Amino acid sequence: MLYNRDFIDEKIKSVIRASESCIGEGELASYIPELANVNPDNFALSITSVTGESFNYGNYNHEFSLQSISKVLLLIMALHDNDPEKVFSKVGSEPTSYEFNSLVPITDKAANPFINAGAITTASMILGTDVDDKFDRILEYYKKLSKQEKAHLMKEVYASEIETTDRNKAISYYLKSKGIFDEDPEKVLDLYIKACSISTNVVALSSMGAAIANRGCDLETHYNLLSKSEVQIVLSQMATCGMYENSGRYLMNVGIPSKSGVSGGILGVVPGVCGIGVYSPRLDKTGNSVRGKEIFNMLGQELDLSIFIN
Ligand code: DON
Repeated sequence: MLYNRDFIDEKIKSVIRASESCIGEGELASYIPELANVNPDNFALSITSVTGESFNYGNYNHEFSLQSISKVLLLIMALHDNDPEKVFSKVGSEPTSYEFNSLVPITDKAANPFINAGAITTASMILGTDVDDKFDRILEYYKKLSKQEKAHLMKEVYASEIETTDRNKAISYYLKSKGIFDEDPEKVLDLYIKACSISTNVVALSSMGAAIANRGCDLETHYNLLSKSEVQIVLSQMATCGMYENSGRYLMNVGIPSKSGVSGGILGVVPGVCGIGVYSPRLDKTGNSVRGKEIFNMLGQELDLSIFIN
């Protein structure tokens, strides 16, 4: 990174201290009952630079589920398995001001790959013999990208969402009725929910972000985990659609392509610089972590991370 390690460490610690003013603000996601079963004030932050330096704070080994951060994986896998024209003939690429699980932004197709309807669509485009095979491919890819050999399906989270997923079921059947995919809507939904239930922690998120920030190349092996054009697509969609109906304001304030999940994680990617993972499970009304957003806001300013300033 641009400054020396102690300087960055001090800046990050001062940001964390300042973000303590958010403690207690926001609510846990409870529409998936298992997500409400956590300490609401748990907190963790990790930054991994493209030069391989890492900065970890709080409960950085704490495990939580990817939730909507998995939408990044589903988009990458759909792009691995299909050319971009095909993917974007089935899903749009424009932001929407509707909430993430709304049916409204599905006209001829879902507005973008980062609302539920869009991610159910990208899930339908992932190749494999059956749901298990497709899920194994996603999990194996995620393990490489995030350097988390132990990543796994969080069974309680999966079971809890499967039982309460009426809205996503409606979305999946609706997409099928529109001719967006031909697969069994229950199986496509099952794959989507399994991807949402993959375990992560902030170190995994910052490692994954660092590989994307490094033009898609693994920091150690230099193996190409994403092509340059996939990086371009994924980061532009994270920048414009990654924080749901809050994406425009967040991009204006923070300027870092990011993707949030209702378990309280946020993944951020600063191209050419670093990946960032934050966890704080209290959410605002748009489903984004309150303290997580504040951390990104302040880190962006303190470390000059906005893509519009550098
Ligand atoms: O489909 C759902 O509702 C969840 N599995 C994921 C939603 C989510 O993470 C929205 N993010 N902020």
